[in-house]
Amino acid sequence: MDMYDLTGRVAVVTGAARGLGLAFAEILARAGCHIAGLDIQSEASKSLYDLQKSHKTVVKYYQVDVTSEENVKTTVAKVVQELGRIDININAAGIVSDEPFLTTSMKNIEKTFAVNVTGSFLVAQACANVMVDRYKKQHGDSPATNATTGTIVFIASIATHMASSAQQISCYTASKAAIRGLVKPVAMELSKYGIRVNSLSPGYTMTDMIRGLQSEQPDLVKQFEKETLFGRIGAPQELQGAILWLCADRASGWYTGQDLLIDGGATSWKHPAILT
Ligand SMILES: NC(=O)c1ccc[n+]([C@@H]2O[C@H](COP(=O)([O-])OP(=O)(O)OC[C@H]3O[C@@H](n4cnc5c(N)ncnc54)[C@H](O)[C@@H]3O)[C@@H](O)[C@H]2O)c1
Repeated sequence: MDMYDLTGRVAVVTGAARGLGLAFAEILARAGCHIAGLDIQSEASKSLYDLQKSHKTVVKYYQVDVTSEENVKTTVAKVVQELGRIDININAAGIVSDEPFLTTSMKNIEKTFAVNVTGSFLVAQACANVMVDRYKKQHGDSPATNATTGTIVFIASIATHMASSAQQISCYTASKAAIRGLVKPVAMELSKYGIRVNSLSPGYTMTDMIRGLQSEQPDLVKQFEKETLFGRIGAPQELQGAILWLCADRASGWYTGQDLLIDGGATSWKHPAILT
């Protein structure tokens, strides 16, 4: 038995048009999942559509603004109609703006919390309801003793584990701390339906999000590189194994209510420069 074989499972991945969401969709498709990619972009990267051919799974793309409850509910209903079920939900849609705490604008606070917190909450809630309905149809009111119904993964951030002097992102960090705050209570509430809930906190990883920040702060990546133990930032592919493990109930079925930090060692040391 291959514990990472997810053939026939259906994964709803937000932020799937590019970056980490796309990398997560790719590894899940490789494991046999059908993919529902959700993103606000009108078109996803060609790589998302290519997954269908290369992995013989069904891949569908849905344009959705995760901050709209109605948009989310309609889209999740459409996913169930078109793909039949939901087993996995990964919430990678997210935004960041670099603004000093003292002058952070109301616009930034509202937008960042709307996408990162409300958006993740709404999508996870809609997907969880689909999983719970399936559980109840199969098992009635008996509480689950194994986590085989499904799994939800929120995407938090290294920012909730350490502040970097390279960035001023208190608003973003607070939104990601709120995401981590969801994990334990939701894991508790959904455990009786056999659903696991965790977050993954990526360290600095090269995606369009980092490229966008770097366009305003050319030395940003150099500073991030100094913070990691290997002197480089990560690639999206370096988070794929963790996502696959988190989503494979035969591999990580006893892991729930936790935050998994993958950061190239950035939070493990003090850079020598600050010790001199
Ligand atoms: N890249 C990193 O270094 C890093 C580090 C820690 C955490 N993260 C987190 O990982 C997640 C993915 O980041 P990424 O680096 O791939 O960024 P990215 O900007 O490349 O991708 C984010 C995706 O979210 C989508 N999105 C934004 N607003 C949306 C909305 N309202 N509705 C639906 N989709 C929306 C964007 O269109 C985009 O495709 C984010 O939550 C981010 O905060 C990234």
